[in-house]
Amino acid sequence: MLRTISGFDRIGEENAFAVLARATALAAQGKDIINLGIGQPDFKTPDHIVEAAIKALKDGHHGYTPANGLLATREAVARRTFTTTGVEVSPENIMIVPGGKVTMFAAILIFGEPGAEILYPDPGFPIYRSMIEFTGAKPVPVPIREENGFAFSAEETLALITPKTRLLILNSPANPTGGVTPKSEIEKLVKGLEAHPHVAIMSDEIYDVMTYDGEEHCSLLTFPQIRDRLIILNGWSKTWAMTGWRMGWSIWPDQLYDKVRKLAVNCWSCVNAPSQFAGIAAIDGPQDDVIKMCKAFDNRRKVVVDGLNSLPGISCATPKGAFYAFPNVKETGWPAKQLASALLDEAGVALIGGPDFGILGEGYIRLSYANSEENILRAIERMEKFLTK
Ligand SMILES: Cc1ncc(COP(=O)(O)O)c(C=O)c1O
Repeated sequence: MLRTISGFDRIGEENAFAVLARATALAAQGKDIINLGIGQPDFKTPDHIVEAAIKALKDGHHGYTPANGLLATREAVARRTFTTTGVEVSPENIMIVPGGKVTMFAAILIFGEPGAEILYPDPGFPIYRSMIEFTGAKPVPVPIREENGFAFSAEETLALITPKTRLLILNSPANPTGGVTPKSEIEKLVKGLEAHPHVAIMSDEIYDVMTYDGEEHCSLLTFPQIRDRLIILNGWSKTWAMTGWRMGWSIWPDQLYDKVRKLAVNCWSCVNAPSQFAGIAAIDGPQDDVIKMCKAFDNRRKVVVDGLNSLPGISCATPKGAFYAFPNVKETGWPAKQLASALLDEAGVALIGGPDFGILGEGYIRLSYANSEENILRAIERMEKFLTK
């Protein structure tokens, strides 16, 4: 037997990928599967972005870039950050990374070890907890509640901080709930954090453009009092339909920047050069496709919420952001994971059981509405048939 580190006894997975694999296998057997499982836009990457990558390759940009990313790409991110938040960030604080996930991987590795505590949202993106467990740190779930509009509660979050807390992970707009934490609550949280200068904050803002009903995204970056301990996670995956390009960016305070740069040198070296050129084109080019995509998500959101609320035993709060609905299925009498599994096997609808996002996800399922209205309606019809049989 080979002896490996104990972290691998604790590391988890992202079940959305397992469901995707199962749905793909069922489809390969000829089954008609509607996939509302995986969280990725169903739109193509806009043409001008693809062209920029092709041009970069043809121009000979095939080699290594600096580990922290091309200066031009980091400058583009600084411009985009100023446009969306009004905050000036130096390219010296920006890292270009292979996907948004890499930022959470790095941040959790930097702070996690036995004896440390890391706060993360539950339900939340499953990799937060998985990586915390991997490092041996204690995962401390911050409850995200339906009755609170799936927003963070500043009071509840602050009450969980101890002298051992090293990192607080926030996510708004949120996966899997679609919750958006209002500015007033974030202000309260930041005020409270002033009493805990030993706590770093990682704010996952990868869905920042996707808010609805006039709801505004409030970036943690707009609070100068925490800038010296704030990590921002963002990227191209969702906004520009670029999940498979593996392109993310993060903003790091001076005191942490060199740590993540060294991690890059030791692991991924750099993000591939053509993608970094594509990333510049995405930021500086026309945003019509982004606007179109967000409008489509908004329309589908209404279709999915109305559809779900018409089903027996299911009630769905209207999500304010991202592209997920997180309906309450407690009244169906089904445990959420079993319901998700049965819906895939018997109704051909792929979605994810809430417990895959944390203990508080029990009683909920997650549907990604990054799929056509037609498919969403077909999925609702199939769910109705299944639930009334
Ligand atoms: C909240 C959240 N953060 C980060 C990521 C990771 O993004 P990427 O695909 O760029 O690694 C996702 C992807 O689903 C997400 O939902």
